[in-house]
Amino acid sequence: MLERVLSARRGAHMADEGDEHEGDDSKTKKHLSIAIRITNYFIRTGYLCPILLIATAILLISSLFVRPRDLLCVSSISSFDRLSRNRFFGLDGLESDFGSLGVPWCRSKDGKTVDWTSKDLLQGLEEFVPIYESRPIKNNMYGMGFDHSFGLWFIARWLKPDLMIESGAFKGHSTWILRQAMPNTRIISITPRHPEKYLKKGPAYVDGNCTYFAGKDFVDFGSVDWKTVMKKHGVTDLTRVLIFFDDHQNELKRLKQALKAGFSNLVFEDNYDTGTGDHYSLRQICDQFYIQGGGHSCFEDGDEGRARTRRKKFWEKAVDTKELCGPGEVWWGVRGYMRDDFNHSNKPISYTQHFQNSRFVESILDVYWELPPVAGPSLTHQTRYDPARAPSPIVEDGRFGLFQRLGLSRLETSVFNGYTQMVYVQISPKKS
Ligand SMILES: C[S@@+](CC[C@H](N)C(=O)[O-])C[C@H]1O[C@@H](n2cnc3c(N)ncnc32)[C@H](O)[C@@H]1O
Repeated sequence: MLERVLSARRGAHMADEGDEHEGDDSKTKKHLSIAIRITNYFIRTGYLCPILLIATAILLISSLFVRPRDLLCVSSISSFDRLSRNRFFGLDGLESDFGSLGVPWCRSKDGKTVDWTSKDLLQGLEEFVPIYESRPIKNNMYGMGFDHSFGLWFIARWLKPDLMIESGAFKGHSTWILRQAMPNTRIISITPRHPEKYLKKGPAYVDGNCTYFAGKDFVDFGSVDWKTVMKKHGVTDLTRVLIFFDDHQNELKRLKQALKAGFSNLVFEDNYDTGTGDHYSLRQICDQFYIQGGGHSCFEDGDEGRARTRRKKFWEKAVDTKELCGPGEVWWGVRGYMRDDFNHSNKPISYTQHFQNSRFVESILDVYWELPPVAGPSLTHQTRYDPARAPSPIVEDGRFGLFQRLGLSRLETSVFNGYTQMVYVQISPKKS
């Protein structure tokens, strides 16, 4: 029996740019604790034990000569060491308080899932790393990092669409990824500023087999006359089209527009967690009390509140109860708001509306699959997203040999910081 990737999910059992990005703090950013790096290096090289023994001996000898007051800074260093070691080994409660936070999930109509397995993802990773290393845009700050680049490449290559449409191209990194997955397939790229404009300042990618709805030809995805465009491109079967959204628009709005045009295969790059991000996402919509791990408590002294406070110390993007909840204990969306268009628009929504949105989404969903992070945080050294709110990684913590064999250890650590639960969905109209 195929080991379905879905089963790897923990929750199941337990600017142009500049200004447009002001609300989006989720993309690749360099951040690394030097102490963790050093600790991990010594662990891998096997020097940790001798070094600890020598350090302990020095401490013991010096304690005979130094007054206790002088040891204050030494004791604070050792407690930090303990903390970073615990983080490295996943002992900071990664698993233990997972249950009280959980990972919400969108239910599909008939419980269908994807065809690919964890083994397929691992094979894909091995193939993708050298491709990623040859990317033209090395610094893609505000664009996709490694995890989502891999996810998009994998999905496009697996589905082998007849046409690929992207909304939100920035300097063209995602266009390049789509091209690597499907070398001869036509692309339509919708983005306000043509990627060629970036070429003046530095690396960018402009594709030769792509129709750009950009610059003066820009039309928002929701306003394109898709019937005419599909006819022009010779597409008769819309199920053979893959749409990639990385335009920071309300995903409920995009879902309705795609459904209306008759498309069924969609990827959303930024599937933000509840309380974060600059647009209403599928992950937020499906965060409901009736879903395992969904629904939240605004009680700061409750189990969830305490778990959140603890996790906030470890993960930059984790949100504590104060950040999660607005006045009147509104926690859905972002503090009770449905954000849109890089948070240039935001509207308060009632819980009833939020609940109805999830029922609507479920009524049209055939498949919902969140890309897992490529590897655990002790391997990637990412410190931004909370692994307790993500599916289990493709390469689990502790599997450094595999991480290295796949070539992942050759990549700069900052490329692993941009994970935001990219999701692949298949939709079809509700059954009457
Ligand atoms: C996060 S960037 C895309 C990054 C790109 N996919 C990558 O991986 O490098 C978001 C892009 O969406 C564009 N954008 C803004 N509003 C848009 C809209 N209504 N439709 C399409 N793109 C839009 C922005 O100009 C920006 O280029």
